[in-house]
Amino acid sequence: MTKSLSKRRKYAFRISKMKILAIESSCDETAAAVVENGRRVLSNAVASQIEIHRRFGGVVPEIASRNHILAIENVVRQALDEANCTEDDIDAVAVTYGAGLLGALLVGVNYAKALAYAWGKPLYAVSHVRGHIAANYIDSDLEPPYVCLLASGGHTAVLKVEDYSTVTLLGQSRDDAAGEAFDKVARVLGLPYPGGPEIQKLALQGKPVFKMPRPVFKSDEAIFFSYSGLKTFVINLVHNLEQRGEEIPKADVACSFQECAVDQLFHAAECAVGRTGMKKVAVAGGVSANALLRARFDEAEKTRGWEVHYPPLRYCTDNAAMIGAEAYFAVQSGASPAGLDLDAKATVRL
Ligand code: KG4
Ligand code: ZN
Repeated sequence: MTKSLSKRRKYAFRISKMKILAIESSCDETAAAVVENGRRVLSNAVASQIEIHRRFGGVVPEIASRNHILAIENVVRQALDEANCTEDDIDAVAVTYGAGLLGALLVGVNYAKALAYAWGKPLYAVSHVRGHIAANYIDSDLEPPYVCLLASGGHTAVLKVEDYSTVTLLGQSRDDAAGEAFDKVARVLGLPYPGGPEIQKLALQGKPVFKMPRPVFKSDEAIFFSYSGLKTFVINLVHNLEQRGEEIPKADVACSFQECAVDQLFHAAECAVGRTGMKKVAVAGGVSANALLRARFDEAEKTRGWEVHYPPLRYCTDNAAMIGAEAYFAVQSGASPAGLDLDAKATVRL
């Protein structure tokens, strides 16, 4: 299998327009997309399980896997139909193999393996985090090198993207991810999952009146993030107010938290720009949809001469188009196809 796949890869490598069918199932979105040459999305089908998990206040892994099984066939069909493609038009299959929920990932990985085998197409294994970064190539002319701030529900890091295949970690969270803090703070405020967009909405009605903890690192220290102290501070604040029978000023809490969370992200990016000397900055991951975060980076573009990139909003949160984009640039950089022994991984090194 591996041998015949690599022969096909050479064929795919030569063609001028490479169409990749990509599959993503790492968390609670079953997604498939057809992407041409890494930047043009021909279709982007997403079956979201948000409504199913909402009543539990977060993603239930076992329920996620079962719903991926139910959805995947239709989602892949939809992606092919919307792209007006049949298997003959597809040059390669790509799939997220990690990081994520193991049971959820296994559904996509096994489906993609079966499809690539049945169609006789090469299969490419894609890291979810690399996919989030590559979302910035969609409908864009962004090229490495650049600094990337990645903030999602599972990761918070600042990276140096040296070329399409070489990414160096400049700093990451010592505890929780930024998105996780948004989700937990939303939950304690009685807002539905996922919390990020809800906090953003509520914060518009509030003022940043609460002083909240933020990690501080000196200019000669390693860049890091920390969200567990901030998250615990908000949870304790709300519980203390409840115990005293006082009304919770939810909008002010949301606004103060958002300011603090965004400040931390921006500060780390600012340090990374200072240390690398690179003023080209891309923001990636679900939290990159945040309007306050984008406003801070937009301001830096105007006042500090940064060149700032974000993915289009629909490609910030989990989707398969970003997996197709990453797979294309990996192929261009000489990545080898995966064999039928490809396995899902709950964690993948950044
Ligand atoms: O990248 P993503 O879809 O999934 C992971 O790979 O984790 O990120 C999901 C996270 C959630 O924590 C969600 O609350 C957060 O992104 N998020 C936001 C916004 N939209 C989504 N956080 C802040 N502001 C938003 N507008
Ligand atoms: Zn994600």
